[in-house]
Amino acid sequence: MQKSPHKVSKHTEIDPLNQTSVISERLAATGKMASEIAHELNTPLGGILIYSHLLLEDIPEDYPHRENIIKIIKLANRCKIIVRGLLDFAHQETLALKNVQVNRVLEGTVHFMERHVLLKNINIIHELDPNLPAISADENKLEQLFVNFVINAGEAMNNFGTLVLRTRPDPDRNGVIIQFSDTGRGIPKKHLGRIFEPFFTTKERGKGTGLGLSISHGIIKLHGGDIKVESVEGKGTTFTIFLPRSQER
Ligand SMILES: Nc1ncnc2c1ncn2[C@@H]1O[C@H](COP(=O)(O)OP(=O)(O)OP(=O)(O)O)[C@@H](O)[C@H]1O
Ligand SMILES: [Mg+2]
Repeated sequence: MQKSPHKVSKHTEIDPLNQTSVISERLAATGKMASEIAHELNTPLGGILIYSHLLLEDIPEDYPHRENIIKIIKLANRCKIIVRGLLDFAHQETLALKNVQVNRVLEGTVHFMERHVLLKNINIIHELDPNLPAISADENKLEQLFVNFVINAGEAMNNFGTLVLRTRPDPDRNGVIIQFSDTGRGIPKKHLGRIFEPFFTTKERGKGTGLGLSISHGIIKLHGGDIKVESVEGKGTTFTIFLPRSQER
């Protein structure tokens, strides 16, 4: 039987950052390779897009193979999204730190996303502690983090459900806790240990990059924080993020 160190009563829980840093090491090695590959691919990909756009402009409307050129552009754009994700995943070593009010950033990000088609019928509940201390963080990266969790939750709920956003201080660890709790389809046990791996996705081929959570994991780790996930299949998922007030870097 496979050893599972992450079992808790009825929930299945995993704390990837405490897993004797195996995942972190693997992500660091993958990140380096990903960055090299992404750099190598970025330039020729840009060329493919430019030349196929030029070709499309030059050929007549009734040219029989026009559709094929449009397909090339579409597929090259898809590659661009993957390369962008790889670069984001790999380029996380620098943080522009400043004093950040997490509640304000979270509310701003969610407000901006509320009209997103994925969230149209989702009930979003804010349980934000007004006494949350400011933390030293990179605001853009926090926004990116929050977008990833909200989008994933929206996707898991498939147009129906409740997303609860919670914040509270963590005085013991001198930081803040941020929670995203959805009533979506949940994550099967066998996937829980893999969701933070780059390219792990349960979406159909061509739909997701599987980089969202690995980028988020990197951002949290870079801030000196950690993340836990609890999930019950068919009921929902809660991601609990801890971020320290300041990091010794
Ligand atoms: N809130 C959630 N509920 C259920 N499953 C989730 C949730 N968040 C993540 N997952 C699972 O983790 C996988 C990896 O998520 P991640 O964000 O890294 O990639 P993705 O969403 O599949 O692709 P992308 O982010 O590029 O659109 C998802 O495919 C899904 O199976
Ligand atoms: Mg995602």
